[in-house]
Amino acid sequence: MSFYEVVHQRRSIRNFSDAPVPEDKLHRILEAARLGPSAGNLQSFQIVVVRDKRVLSQLAEACHEQSQVAKAGLALVFCAVPRRCVERYRERGVQLYATQDTAIACSLATLAATAEGLGSCWVGAFNDEAVGRVIKAPPDVRPQAVLPIGVVASQPRHARELLPANDMIVLEHF
Ligand SMILES: Cc1cc2nc3c(=O)[nH]c(=O)nc-3n(C[C@H](O)[C@H](O)[C@H](O)COP(=O)(O)O)c2cc1C
Repeated sequence: MSFYEVVHQRRSIRNFSDAPVPEDKLHRILEAARLGPSAGNLQSFQIVVVRDKRVLSQLAEACHEQSQVAKAGLALVFCAVPRRCVERYRERGVQLYATQDTAIACSLATLAATAEGLGSCWVGAFNDEAVGRVIKAPPDVRPQAVLPIGVVASQPRHARELLPANDMIVLEHF
């Protein structure tokens, strides 16, 4: 699949089969997530891999009972680690760059999962403290996104709805 085919094919998948995620696919997804740009190349994020079914259920509960998290073959929890960039970037690093580094890594993982023929769903609605407890995160490691990944059982029923391109892209001639 070309890069643009991957971008077009990626959808949020909320219906996974029971099949496991092969190790080699997981490895390539994690490598893709590590390879994104980051502020000052300080890589102010961490990815926690959750495979245990019992822990996936606890994670789903912490995500306000979102069942796709429990049903997935595994989940990646993308966490900001602001301590890595605070010395160089101070408040901007803590408030902005660590979050952006983490979001970039998660975006790449969604695309890599699609390229591997798997499905994923970015989950941002969760209780921060509860997710932190489930993954035993130290206080300065901040969960930003949970990404269940698995073998697709069914695609979304609805076509992708996008705003008109003109509302999203402003072509100005300054
Ligand atoms: C920051 C963010 C938070 C999201 N949170 C959730 C969530 O908690 N639960 C969920 O099912 N989908 C969540 N989504 C997925 C969006 O609903 C989805 O990307 C959007 O509807 C577009 O559909 P598509 O991904 O299939 O193109 C989130 C996506 C983003 C980027």
